[in-house]
Amino acid sequence: SNNTIIAIDGYSSCGKSTLAKALAKKLHYIYVDSGAMYRAVALYFLRNNIDSADHAQIEAALKDIHLNFHSRDYETHITLNGEEVSDEIRQMPVSEKVSEVSALKEVRREMVKQQQRMGQSKNIVMDGRDIGTTVFPNATLKIFMTADPAVRAQRRYDEIRTKNPDITLEEVFENIAHRDYSDTTREESPLVRAKDAIILDNTNLTPEEQLQFALDKVEKLK
Ligand code: C5P
Repeated sequence: SNNTIIAIDGYSSCGKSTLAKALAKKLHYIYVDSGAMYRAVALYFLRNNIDSADHAQIEAALKDIHLNFHSRDYETHITLNGEEVSDEIRQMPVSEKVSEVSALKEVRREMVKQQQRMGQSKNIVMDGRDIGTTVFPNATLKIFMTADPAVRAQRRYDEIRTKNPDITLEEVFENIAHRDYSDTTREESPLVRAKDAIILDNTNLTPEEQLQFALDKVEKLK
């Protein structure tokens, strides 16, 4: 097929979704936030007390989980079995559960399958942890994002404190460090830079500068 796929991977709270959204908007591509899918699965596991060590329970849960994206203004709107869960999946209980659930082989197999289907014939920007390595190893363009962990924690803290006034910077920092550790050390498609991914360290870059960086790379593809 001749559709364009842009894969954006990297550590937690690196601004992947901000860049991916801006890029999709500019290029009129579809934006898919793969992390939202793992978060919705984690929410289901929490609500239904699914035991992550019980394979039969995991398989049954996956059969019962139906996710759907509906894009509006390039914001992520995701439903879990018909219920809008876009806000709830950003709360701390889900953030604390998601890396455990996303490390499960059955969960990854199913999510990757759904993600690959989304990129079959459309131009898309997808962000996550394994998009350039596992989901779309032949992606047209791969960007791997990093930033100083303290800067990432501060950005995420500033973003969520209005909705979540009790949260502390330390809690946010701990959660990011924990997810980085878990995501990079898990057995099943760990977070790693694809050999052909371009590194973007955005510690000292504005969102506009990051968008320009990516657009320059897209321009070079032509
Ligand atoms: O992107 P976001 O931080 O919302 O992702 C939440 C979590 O989902 C990550 O910490 C990671 O454990 C998992 N994830 C993943 N593979 C992806 C996207 C997200 O394992 N492609």
